[in-house]
Amino acid sequence: MTQMQPELPPIRSMRPAMTADTMARTGLDETVLTELVHGFYARVRSDPDLGPIFSDRITNWEPHLEKMVAFWSSVALMTGRYHGAPVPKHAGLPVTWAHFERWLELFRETADEVCTPEGAAHVVERAERIARSLYMAAVDTQRAGSVPSLG
Ligand code: HEM
Repeated sequence: MTQMQPELPPIRSMRPAMTADTMARTGLDETVLTELVHGFYARVRSDPDLGPIFSDRITNWEPHLEKMVAFWSSVALMTGRYHGAPVPKHAGLPVTWAHFERWLELFRETADEVCTPEGAAHVVERAERIARSLYMAAVDTQRAGSVPSLG
């Protein structure tokens, strides 16, 4: 008797071929990204420097974590699941580059633990690029806030 293959969940994506290719190459999928996000924010929340910045602003963590899995699904797998605007959410945060370095350190640690080496390289490269642009946005608004208005 022939065994039926269990049906794989369909890949929902804006670019299904690219998503399937990245998944095959990196071993990343929604399950791995969920583990990455949950493991990463557990570290962030217990970090003495980063923890308070988040806990002052996020009281209900479940929706934040769900949003962050959608974000990473969009960034890493091009699924188009995230529809937000991260820049304004980081504008004016009380941070220096040292906070972003720490953020990246914890992200790398978690990625090395839960992803394949190819998967970790894929998400870390993207995190580093986005961290630089969010840092610029945060610092620009800090400066804008400290300069007397010319108007
Ligand atoms: C020191 C570094 C960082 C700090 C302190 C920080 C802090 C925060 C906080 C407090 C929020 C919640 C804002 C709110 O809901 O009002 C947030 C949201 C978010 N962060 Fe960060 N963040 C940092 C770095 C990053 C990096 C490097 C990324 C991406 C690689 C990132 C991606 C996001 C995204 C996608 C959201 C959700 C925005 C939305 O509501 O759609 N963050 N962050």
